[in-house]
Amino acid sequence: MSGKRILLIVSGGIAAYKSLELVRLLRREDVAVRAVMTESAKEFVTPLSLGVLTEDHVYGNMFDLKEESEIGHIQLSREADLIVICPATANMMAKMAAGIAGDLATTILLATDKPVLAVPAMNVRMWHHVATQRNIAQLRADGIHVMEPDSGGMACGEWGKGRLPEPEMVAAEIRQMLASPLAIDSLPTGGALQGKHVLVTAGPTHEPIDPVRYIANRSSGKQGFAIARAAADAGARVTLVSGPVSLPTPRGVTRVDVETAREMAAAVESALPADIAFMVAAVADWRTADEAAQKIKKNGAAPASLSLIENPDILATLGKHAQRPKLLIGFAAETENVGEHAATKLARKGADWIVANDVSGDVMGGDANSVQIVTAQGTESWDRLPKDAVANRLIEKAVHVLAAD
Ligand code: CTP
Repeated sequence: MSGKRILLIVSGGIAAYKSLELVRLLRREDVAVRAVMTESAKEFVTPLSLGVLTEDHVYGNMFDLKEESEIGHIQLSREADLIVICPATANMMAKMAAGIAGDLATTILLATDKPVLAVPAMNVRMWHHVATQRNIAQLRADGIHVMEPDSGGMACGEWGKGRLPEPEMVAAEIRQMLASPLAIDSLPTGGALQGKHVLVTAGPTHEPIDPVRYIANRSSGKQGFAIARAAADAGARVTLVSGPVSLPTPRGVTRVDVETAREMAAAVESALPADIAFMVAAVADWRTADEAAQKIKKNGAAPASLSLIENPDILATLGKHAQRPKLLIGFAAETENVGEHAATKLARKGADWIVANDVSGDVMGGDANSVQIVTAQGTESWDRLPKDAVANRLIEKAVHVLAAD
């Protein structure tokens, strides 16, 4: 990233203090950061702190004659390689979506022709509010790259989605955007999948042992849901076949809830034909041969062993299906020899790509993922990225592959 220039817009939320850490990370990689603050941002961090870290003047007042004569708002909006809004409040994104230019920050955003990354942070209810979601969909359609916020405890004492992603994750996203001009040009893939049907499986499956117990794999469903969201953002019709997870349905996505592998296989079959299929679900490979009709009691009647039979392999079935999707993508969770195992899986299942992730760390249930894409042409390794960014890049790659056909 050395030598790149970022214009950082800080809007007014409690997470504004984390923008200081982001500046520190970027400066460490020799990125020039010029900062603009909104009036309310100055209630949370001071221009002095930001100025010391950026080693530059901090801009904030459109009507400051000195600032405007030295470097005007048009120039500020044009000189950067990338504009980053961190944190991006609900209010800031609402103004951007409406094209309002009422202060220096919003005027810069309206005047720029540079790629823009918005890093939202807000209270969980504000995040889920239909107005905010509508604004975010609009921003994405307008070509702004909006990161998904993290989930967790909030400054206001509530819990849920809306936390600013960790500064390291924001820096990783910036690194990716700066590293691949192609990705920037095509971000977001607004409309690129118009008229296409994308099928996604996500989450675990539950294979009942008796009415209260089941066999399952560890899977939060986050990566699959992020892919469904990214495909819908790109204009596709999306069918998301999901095992039991506690995640909201992404906007514009048709969701089919299932429990078992056999139900998932049937739902996938009836969703065909599809142009692209992402088989992200962690399908249980086996189910019990005989599900007990009543709860198995401990008192002497418990079976010493469970007899298991293999579940249908949904990905492999699609691989040789008469209606095989044009692009068939499987996932592989590996704890060792990631690339090697994925290459074997590619051939065995008849997929076009295997997205392999190393689950020896905290991938399961976490918000970030480092993946390798194994195809017949070779292997690509991606930096550790938020699952949302992995989803965007997978959709972007799929768009390019379909376009090259
Ligand atoms: N898959 C599927 N149906 C199954 C099992 C897996 O569609 N019954 C898909 C998954 O959605 C994923 C890929 O196949 O895309 C994973 O393959 P799998 O062989 O299950 O990989 P692992 O679980 O990693 O298994 P192993 O390493 O034991 O081969």
